[in-house]
Formats: sequence, structure tokens, C-alpha cells
Amino acid sequence: MLIDEEKLRAYYSQAPEDISLTDVDLARIPRHVSIIMDGNGRWAQARGLDRSEGHVAGVDSLREAVTTSVRLGVDVFSVYAFSTENWRRPQHEVDLLMHLFATTLLNELPLFHQENVKLRFFGDLVALPEETRDVFQEGLDETADHTGMTFALAVNYGSRAEITKAAREIAELVVSGDLTPEDVDEGVFADHLYTAGLPDPELLIRTSGEQRLSNYLLWQLAYTEFFVTDTYWPDFTRWDYLRAIRDFQGRHRRFGGVVSK
Ligand code: FPP
Repeated sequence: MLIDEEKLRAYYSQAPEDISLTDVDLARIPRHVSIIMDGNGRWAQARGLDRSEGHVAGVDSLREAVTTSVRLGVDVFSVYAFSTENWRRPQHEVDLLMHLFATTLLNELPLFHQENVKLRFFGDLVALPEETRDVFQEGLDETADHTGMTFALAVNYGSRAEITKAAREIAELVVSGDLTPEDVDEGVFADHLYTAGLPDPELLIRTSGEQRLSNYLLWQLAYTEFFVTDTYWPDFTRWDYLRAIRDFQGRHRRFGGVVSK
């Protein structure tokens, strides 16, 4: 994605001591950055607040991360917002999150228009409350013609469910005679995942210090570099994002071979 360097420099002025824009190579920004946003609850508890306050604060971090992704010229920015396991949370927290997803998406539509951001969802949306589903559909319709960065939200997403869904769809195509078992290769399989047509993440960031994948993009993360920060999601800023990219660019990706890139 093209970078507007003037806007980027203005966005990244007032640098803290340990990091500045000059620490990253703008020609090697990862194409797809994905974030497991974690630590909203602990952020709130540490302040004597209700967990829900952490989710509300997390919305501000998400807005900033979307803007940062656009400014840095990332092609695809994806976040894990709600997993298939998150339904086990207390009902009032689930209700709050579903409402927050809907209101946030509506509130941010002007930003998506202004920045030419195209929306996408990973996950089984059929199980979501009608309000949330309707707003998601509106977001998809409103941004369908946008040609800038793709912003993907994983909602009611689980990687094992996604892989099982792909296997079932492919099995049905084989049964109907539209595919032969020999046709089924990695490309065909990838076409039946929620991420069809998108590049795999090059960088996965997880906040709040947890070192787990939590059933997120198991297929797509095969060669992805991980960056774990102790920062809770509501405290995650454009500078933390830059630190992750600096770290990423300092590594040598070999994809199982021996030649460093
Ligand atoms: C993890 O914190 C975060 C989530 C469950 C995702 C929710 C994310 C947001 C509300 C940010 C805004 C997102 C959208 C799409 C509007 P946690 O509750 O697991 O924290 P904990 O591990 O400290 O309990």
C-alpha cells in the first residue's frame, strides 16, 4: 500500500526515547499484521474498574491501531475480537461486547470512508445477535468499493471450526463431482478459509504477555513472526506497534530454508 510520508511523519512526531520512525524500514513494512488484543479485563481490574471499562478503553486502542496500519501502508490489518470460546464469559459481558462491536463499527464508518478502508470478517456471523449482524452487513456494504487497506475482524472465530468448515465444503464438492481428491491442494484448501484471497499474516502481535495462539489462524500463521508485549491492549499505542515492526525487521525469515532474506 502506498505510504503518505508527510502524514506518516506528522503522525509519528513527539517520539519517546527508545523508538522513532527512523528505526523502521518503510520499504519492508509487513503486508499483513494481525493482533490478538488481550488484557482489557486486567487493565480495568488494575484500576479498580469493571472489566467492561477495559473493553470500552480497548476501542480507542483499536481505532489508533487501524489508523497506524493505514499510515504505515499495511495492506491487511486483522484483529481477534471474539473467539468461539468467548461465549463462555458471563452473559452481561458477552452482551456488552456484541453491543460494543456494533456501535464501534457504526461510529467508525466515517473513518473507514476517509481512509478508504475495506471491511471484512472472519468467523461464523450467523450466531451473532441481529443488531451486530445487521451493522456488520452495513459495514461490508458501505466499504465494498473501497480500495485501500483491508481491516478484518475475527468475530465468533475459531481456527479449528474454520478448518473443519473448509474440509466439509471440500468433501461436499468431491461428493458432487465438482472436485476430485487429487484436485485438493493447499491452494484449494486456503480458498475455503475465511481468509481466502488475503496474504497470510507476516507479523502477529499479542498483548498482555500471553504466549498462546488461542485457536487463532492456525493454518495462516504457519510462517508468521510473533511479537508478544506485556502491554495490556488498552495501553497499546502507535509506538508499541512501531516497536513490533522494528523487532520483526530485525529477524531473518527463512521459511524452513537456509538463505536469509
Ligand atoms: C481481551 O481482553 C479482549 C477481547 C475479549 C476482545 C474485545 C476487544 C475489544 C472490545 C476492543 C474493541 C474491539 C472491537 C471490534 C470494537 P480480555 O477480556 O481477555 O482481558 P483479560 O485477559 O485481562 O481478562
